Formats: sequence, C-alpha cells, structure tokens
Amino acid sequence: MKEIKICSNFKVFDSADELNDTTKLLFHEAQKVRNSAYSVYSGFSVGAAVLLENGKILSGSNQENASYPLGLCAERTVLFYANSKFPDIKIKEIAIIAGSVRKVNEEPVAPCGACRQVISEFQTNQNSDIGLYFKGQRGKIIYTNSVNNLLPFKFDKAFL
Ligand code: THU
Repeated sequence: MKEIKICSNFKVFDSADELNDTTKLLFHEAQKVRNSAYSVYSGFSVGAAVLLENGKILSGSNQENASYPLGLCAERTVLFYANSKFPDIKIKEIAIIAGSVRKVNEEPVAPCGACRQVISEFQTNQNSDIGLYFKGQRGKIIYTNSVNNLLPFKFDKAFL
C-alpha cells in the first residue's frame, strides 16, 4: 500500500474588478443569461458563459421541468449548445454565476458533479484544458485552470 496526494490549484479573486476584461465580459454575459433561467421549482438560477477559442461568447441558463429530473444545468445547456453549433472550435473558459431567490449567495457556487464530468469530456475531446471561474451572486470568484482540479479520478471515455 502507498498513499498518494493529489493537489489542486485555485486562484481567489476578491471581486470582478480583479478580473481581466475578457473574463469580466464573460461574467457579464453569464449574469445576463441567468435572468432567463427557468428555475420555478428550485428558485435557484444559474448562468454560464463560455469563451470559444475564436473569441465568441455563448451563454445558457438552467432549465427546469415539472418532471424534476428532466431539468438541465446552465453549464450543460451552454456546453451542448456550443458543441452543436461550433463542434470544431475549442472552449477556452467557462464562467458560472449562481444564486437562490431565498438568500444572497455570498460564497462561490461550484458546479455540480454532473457538469464537472461533462466539462471534463470536453477537455478530453479538445485536448486542452478549460479555465473555470465560479461565483455566487456576490463576493469572491474562484478560478482554476482545469476541471481536473475539481474532479480527481474522473470517469473517462478511455475506460470504455
Ligand atoms: N444547477 C445548475 O444549473 N448548475 C449546477 O452546477 C448546479 C445546479 C441548477 C439545477 C437546478 O435547476 C438548480 O440549479 C437547483 O439545483
């Protein structure tokens, strides 16, 4: 038996003022699209914006359904759209903003495990990492340069 240690690196920004202009714009789009979330059941709205390698920004929000498990997270809404419309263009970054109608989320809201898994497969397919930023309605922003930092021992298509 041996023990292994896995390290993950993150940057913490105190506010959006510390971000570069492109990432500020990415969050602006994520914030805007969050208003279109169909989150009538959870009251929790999420906006996600992706920056493509060609500079284009796409965005999407979470979409729920009366049949609860059918809903889709904001991250997967925008990623599947990106891959439908621009399958050959790599994704450089994703910015996620999330929060509840019941309170103001001051802590960064990390993407769920299912979305991490999907982002991971995008990284594998495009053979390059995707920078990931996430925040709550207010407060700090967390950045990591790869979803691998959020998903050690990921399930990979190479297993199949
Ligand atoms: N949600 C997202 O859009 N992204 C996540 O990473 C976590 C959760 C959505 C799904 C559901 O509509 C609502 O937030 C509450 O879970």
